[in-house]
Amino acid sequence: MAGTVTCEMSTVVEARHQYVGAYGSFYWRRMMSSGSSAVEESTKEGLTEKKEKNSLVSEANKRDSSVVASSYWGISKPKITREDGTEWPWNCFMPWQTYRADLSIDLAKHHVPKTFADKIVYRTVKLLRIPTDLFFQRRYGCRAMMLETVAAVPGMVGGMLLHLRSLRKFQHSGGWIKALLEEAENERMHLMTMVELVKPKWFERLLVLAIQGVFFNAFFVLYLLSPKMAHRFVGYLEEEAIHSYTEFLKDINNGKIENVPAPAIAIDYWRLPKDATLKDVITVIRADEAHHRDVNHFASDIKFQGKKLEEAPAPLGYH
Ligand SMILES: [Fe+2]
Ligand SMILES: [Fe+2]
Repeated sequence: MAGTVTCEMSTVVEARHQYVGAYGSFYWRRMMSSGSSAVEESTKEGLTEKKEKNSLVSEANKRDSSVVASSYWGISKPKITREDGTEWPWNCFMPWQTYRADLSIDLAKHHVPKTFADKIVYRTVKLLRIPTDLFFQRRYGCRAMMLETVAAVPGMVGGMLLHLRSLRKFQHSGGWIKALLEEAENERMHLMTMVELVKPKWFERLLVLAIQGVFFNAFFVLYLLSPKMAHRFVGYLEEEAIHSYTEFLKDINNGKIENVPAPAIAIDYWRLPKDATLKDVITVIRADEAHHRDVNHFASDIKFQGKKLEEAPAPLGYH
């Protein structure tokens, strides 16, 4: 396919060169000719050539139908297939970003808050759970979708701030920028999956706007002031997420929530079997949350030991 793309692109480039060449030749002849008839003749020739070359370019563009915009920039989607040879349908993630969730992770692991800062953060997360429980009650689909809009924020904020620090201090990040951005992307994929199952209502969209405005800024300030507390906060948030998804699974098991087929995006992202169901999806998402819990408590512990994140290897690709 790469060969085909290159070949087609070279046709376009060649056509463009011919077009420029024709215009150059027309310009040169116009400058050199003194008679008006010669000018008219060369103008006609130039226009004919121009038309021919234009049609060549448009034909080349038509041939490359996979490119939405003009192929002028040489950007086209390479032909990517699944392991079974079928065409890869997603642009938002690629096969090499997919994985099988590690379901063996300990879901019950809990960081006992010892320091004053840990206790404050733990209490804050527990307090935040009260309005969440009141608002959603046992509507776990809706609850998960809304909470994923929040869960995808900390990784992006932490990754961004570490990125900026790396630039300011001319220092490596030890892989932590990538690890945190991976977490944000993983959380966003949870959201993209949940939104296939639950369609947000207008007031929920409004709520997301308001919460994001507050939460992004609050977490940004917290990460600036104390990355140790910020990571601990996320660690406890993930512990709550595990709890919520466990309750979600309970309701699927007792029939309160219908165990519908898994969305196609989830089947490809987590390499699930084709007949996977909602229960399988929630199980792998819960495993992801347990990994995020460990990454963030780990990051907080590194800081607690008075060390920098880059002194410990970042858990890249840890799912
Ligand atoms: Fe999540
Ligand atoms: Fe998470």
